[in-house]
Amino acid sequence: MDTEVLTRGERAVPASDNPLWWRSAVIYQVYVRSFADGNGDGTGDLAGVRARLGYLKDLGVDALWFNPWYPSPLADGGYDVQDYRDIDPRFGTLEEAELLIQEALALGIRTIIDVVPNHLSDQHPWFQAALVAGPGSPERERFWFHPGGGHDGDEMPTDWVSSFQGETWTRTTNSDGTPGEWYLHLFTPEQPDLNWNHPDVRREHEDILRFWFDRGVAGVRIDSAALPVKDPALPHIGDAVHAPGEHPHVDRDELHDIYRGWRAVADEYDGTRVLVGEVWLDDAERFARYLRPDEMHTAFNFDFMTQPWSAAALRGSIQRTLAEHEPVGAPATWVLSNHDVTRPVTRYGRADSAFAFARKRFGTPTDIARGTRRARAAALLTAALPGSLYIYQGDELGLPEAELPTSVIQDPMHFRSGGVDPGRDGCRVPLPWSGTRPPYGFGTAAGAETWLPQPLDWAPFAADSQQRDPGSMLSLYREALRLRRETGDLHGEDLAWLELGADVLAFRRGERTVSMTNLCPVAVPLPAHRAVLLSSGQPTDERGGMLPPDSTVWLAL
Ligand code: NOJ
Repeated sequence: MDTEVLTRGERAVPASDNPLWWRSAVIYQVYVRSFADGNGDGTGDLAGVRARLGYLKDLGVDALWFNPWYPSPLADGGYDVQDYRDIDPRFGTLEEAELLIQEALALGIRTIIDVVPNHLSDQHPWFQAALVAGPGSPERERFWFHPGGGHDGDEMPTDWVSSFQGETWTRTTNSDGTPGEWYLHLFTPEQPDLNWNHPDVRREHEDILRFWFDRGVAGVRIDSAALPVKDPALPHIGDAVHAPGEHPHVDRDELHDIYRGWRAVADEYDGTRVLVGEVWLDDAERFARYLRPDEMHTAFNFDFMTQPWSAAALRGSIQRTLAEHEPVGAPATWVLSNHDVTRPVTRYGRADSAFAFARKRFGTPTDIARGTRRARAAALLTAALPGSLYIYQGDELGLPEAELPTSVIQDPMHFRSGGVDPGRDGCRVPLPWSGTRPPYGFGTAAGAETWLPQPLDWAPFAADSQQRDPGSMLSLYREALRLRRETGDLHGEDLAWLELGADVLAFRRGERTVSMTNLCPVAVPLPAHRAVLLSSGQPTDERGGMLPPDSTVWLAL
């Protein structure tokens, strides 16, 4: 273990006193279940993360975002929370989480946790109490229980379609065995939606924020942040076209008051505690509303993440992003992937390199070498843009999406698609740390099998061998993050485009630093420069100052 272990109650040194840390932070996403296994049971845990803090420090990240680590039946990978104030025993204990937060802080790394307001687990005490209490009870008012339509009440109350495909209502059974009311779940039946018109729901979540801010967390990532409020009239959607803010369950205006309340809680604390929204919205102006000065600090930039490998598409997205953030004064975020989407190495190696949930299929032809070149270029491109940067665990190792046999898949998205969509487990496979065979140092050698199987050809991706190879993806990430930290030009929020050809994305940051990405099929000349700072492709100056296809270079002018 590289880090000094603190005992409970000892105070760590603050990460940095800069209250604006979040505007340009590099945030590493830890999917705990698959990061590192400290107890050899095949599932990642907090002990595994604590043992690898040195790796994260060397990588050069400013903060960690943990996917939900709470007790959960894991019907949706932990996004079905049973208790928001504890740690799942498979991952560790609350005491260990407190130590982890402090140990990371002592290394200058802040902690962001995931808060899931739209729904909870059907095993949560509130939902269990609601089932027992029956129709008309105050316990049921915290959810969306409703009688069914039709003669026998056997029709769903609305025609809303789940974000995971299929129906959004499940019928309950009364205590006498007769069919009862239905309850709403925008995701799986194990994730009943909360009723945000109920004061208990609002109070409870503000209290949960305080619980974790009191333990030193620096921020929260807000899950499905545009969904929690519903139209209480529960109208059918049919073919209706809704004006902004009038859809019955997406982006309703009432949400903003909730997040203003959360911001007020965050602002009660010393240092900046940040709110990061998972806001999937096409409408840029509606998206930016969540980032007004008294609401969230930042939100994930999915517009950029879903673009294909095309200069026009990427440039268009960068320009839209900067333009939509500017009026509200919020910094942009740059995200290449997360635990829900296809790994960049795979996505950029496909004929259709845009991302859309609906288009995921088994057996899609993929050119991994090309995808890797592009993912390297994209890593440098995003690290050069103004704003904060997210890195999903394993992208720094260049992991491809694993094509898993259907017999091991656990993700409900796979099952709810009727088995057509491979789901999201392919990007959630336990990380390879060392060695040449599974479990590649993920857990102890004698440990149990990993919760998802690791591909047999992952030896080249192991972190320890990449650490020794200056040409590896890991070395590229480390060097990029070091330069980002040490290059004053990259700290501002300015960006000036350079016109170097239709398929070249080039911009200047500050006075003297240029990032240039070549998306043409042929090499293109570099502009006049003083030095090459870093390149994702072959060393460029030795080839007469040409930038090869599918690569990014950082230049000092
Ligand atoms: C978004 C999360 O990122 C995803 O993993 C989860 O399944 C849904 N929200 C539901 O909580």
